[in-house]
Amino acid sequence: MGTNLTWHAAAVSKQERADKKAQKPCVIWFTGLSGSGKSTLANALERALFERGHHCYLLDGDNVRQGLNGDLGFTDQDRVENIRRIGEAAKLFVDAGLIIMTAFISPFRTERRLARDVVEADEFIEVHLATSLEVCEERDPKGLYKKARAGEIANFTGIDSVYESPEHPEIVVDTAVNDIGACTEQLVNYLRKNKYI
Ligand code: ADX
Repeated sequence: MGTNLTWHAAAVSKQERADKKAQKPCVIWFTGLSGSGKSTLANALERALFERGHHCYLLDGDNVRQGLNGDLGFTDQDRVENIRRIGEAAKLFVDAGLIIMTAFISPFRTERRLARDVVEADEFIEVHLATSLEVCEERDPKGLYKKARAGEIANFTGIDSVYESPEHPEIVVDTAVNDIGACTEQLVNYLRKNKYI
């Protein structure tokens, strides 16, 4: 960490930004295997919230890895750094008053815990896409499981790299059991019930 740094208090508070947007800013952290439906569900939720007049944004693994995190690969160490940066970025979006969604495999419990701990306790909503490996592999939307099975991709989550399921996620969804519309409704209802929107 750098030295000789001073944290500058902002002239506009998080609360003021939130009040202006008539929403409670938070991180909606989607976690699950590749192909579990994280991006699809996060996009559907973003659209639903946007149409209700909310200010939200989505950070998506495949996209962020082509820019901000373009220097990172898929070793355990790089995944940890990937998630650390996203946790910090998400915190900035919360401070800006937004509902920020993140769609990353985020396979390790410890890193998800760190991402949770950088914001306030009621600002982090962990959504576990519990779609089974069998279903994800069957879907294989990018053909990556096939490549991983053929030994063409190393450290592929679920094949030769571990995925640690969340122990106490706020929400569990399974896109193999419910369609995207029903899963989106489940999330919107949660946000309403808990007064985020
Ligand atoms: S994370 O583990 O660091 O959270 P992240 O969500 O950013 O992963 O990126 C996962 C995406 O990268 C997958 O959806 C897939 O398209 C692609 N990918 C490429 N190589 C791998 C790999 N070895 N393991 C998992 N996903 C990979």
